[in-house]
Amino acid sequence: MKKPVDLNAAYQPKDFAFRDMEKVKEIISRYPQGKQRSATMPLLDLAQRQVGEDGAQAKPPYGGWIPRAAMDKIAEIVDVPPVKVYEVATFYSMYNLEPVGKYLVQMCTTTPCMLCGSGDVVKTCESHLGIHTGETTRDGMFTLMEVECLGACVNAPMVQINDDYFEDLTPESMKQILSDLKEGREVSVGPQNGRVASMSESGTTTLVEQADRLGIKKAG
Ligand code: FES
Repeated sequence: MKKPVDLNAAYQPKDFAFRDMEKVKEIISRYPQGKQRSATMPLLDLAQRQVGEDGAQAKPPYGGWIPRAAMDKIAEIVDVPPVKVYEVATFYSMYNLEPVGKYLVQMCTTTPCMLCGSGDVVKTCESHLGIHTGETTRDGMFTLMEVECLGACVNAPMVQINDDYFEDLTPESMKQILSDLKEGREVSVGPQNGRVASMSESGTTTLVEQADRLGIKKAG
């Protein structure tokens, strides 16, 4: 569930300006004349990504979120009252409306992930990062959240970190991913147990000719 948004919090910057106005124009041009308000969602995403790019260079770092000033700017651009943009931004969980860590760790705890061990993975995150769910580490690197199904149940348990999915997790692989991200090492996204995409863990059982061509093992 989303937390209430504090539009007057001390962390809210006074101003916001899009860096890439060409991109803003391109987004608006995707929609018919007079329907520029349809650009609200991609503009919110653009604002969140811009803040995240700035945050990745900052010390301490922070992740992508959407300040009130950005929502007001979007309202001005698409010519709607600010509340119309607040309504959209507060409805969808993909928009962060308060500062988050450089890495936003969204752990799925819905039934399939829960049955496959997400509880232990959450506990591992909390003990490894030294925070509880809903909190951000003091160094600004990680925010931990529990979320509902992210649509990768076949590879449960899984977590979304920024734009990437990490699947087939164990407490050990989760700990390794967090350590690698903290140290700036490369991480491998997707399944962590060697399976290819969402195929059967014992190997492919269909489309075997295609699998042969790709060198993917067959169930046997
Ligand atoms: S239940 Fe976790 S991805 Fe669907």
